[in-house]
Amino acid sequence: MNLRRPQMAFAPGRVNLIGEHTDYNQGLALPFAIATGITVTATPTGGDTMHVIASDLAAEDRFPVRAPGYAAGWRAFARGAAAELSAAGCEVVGARLEIAGSVPRGSGLSSSAALAVSLCLALLAVSELPPPDRLELARLCSRIENDWVGSRTGLLDQLASLYGQTGHGLLIDFRSLELSPVALALHGWHLVTVDSGQRHAHGAAAAEGYNGRRTECAEACELLGIESLREATVELAFELPDPLCRRALHVITENDRVRETVIALKAGDLERVGALLRESHASLRDRYEISTPAVERTVARLQAAGARGARIIGGGFGGHVLGLLPPDARLPDGAIEVAPAAGARLL
Ligand code: GLA
Repeated sequence: MNLRRPQMAFAPGRVNLIGEHTDYNQGLALPFAIATGITVTATPTGGDTMHVIASDLAAEDRFPVRAPGYAAGWRAFARGAAAELSAAGCEVVGARLEIAGSVPRGSGLSSSAALAVSLCLALLAVSELPPPDRLELARLCSRIENDWVGSRTGLLDQLASLYGQTGHGLLIDFRSLELSPVALALHGWHLVTVDSGQRHAHGAAAAEGYNGRRTECAEACELLGIESLREATVELAFELPDPLCRRALHVITENDRVRETVIALKAGDLERVGALLRESHASLRDRYEISTPAVERTVARLQAAGARGARIIGGGFGGHVLGLLPPDARLPDGAIEVAPAAGARLL
């Protein structure tokens, strides 16, 4: 008889304050974990079958622990988690996994990374295995998305979910993988997210979207003979044909904006942070071309409410918009205040 107890793991979604589409270009970003996320309850069954239940979708999946095989959509996550943990030498046991969540899917708040991280933590706990180093776990969760789900996403979301700290943003240097907490003191200002109502997907259907931008960045590097856009300069970018020139300019200027945001936060200059969010959005809209009419309407609504800065967050092509409003502003309908919360953990 198997006497192992059920285990619950929670992994938060994230908001990226600034530094968008920089992670896979070895650049800089400043995300933070949020209070909402995904919870996975794992109950050991002792067999060699994994039984996965997605409560919010009223859907389930079953697969052999040792040979999960591929499946599309949300089913790819648990299969990928079991397979990648096994490949990393973890003896995962059969279990019933119940997924419950408060992060809307495809909303730019990183429901995918929260799902992968919570599945892995729950599976490790129920299998009585020590969790690997968090950086290793972030890489493993990124492989689940890359190789099982089919999204060529970077490490931003997994690191934010795993290393989140209450009251702090996380300055990530994706070249050195150095992580530095940065206090996020808002001095009464409001940081909010508003849903544009448009959902995105990083799967095969987004070939022209997220994955397409990655391909363009790789092409730009090849033409310039550099390893990543972190090494590019404005002068070099102007040698590239359009649209690669604009893609590179976005990445170069976005890295600068991350550095400036850290300085502005340390100085308590929220007006400046707002201006940087505004510039980031303009760059994502005009140079990176990942905005949509629904997102633009949401940005305009935030600006009309007095936001000093409003920008699309996450992979783009829909999802949530982040806004920074002064203390006396009246928040627009549907605005949800967000604050840095703790990272992934067992409950
Ligand atoms: C998605 C990806 C991240 C990152 C952002 C854009 O959230 O999962 O890796 O590339 O888009 O900054």
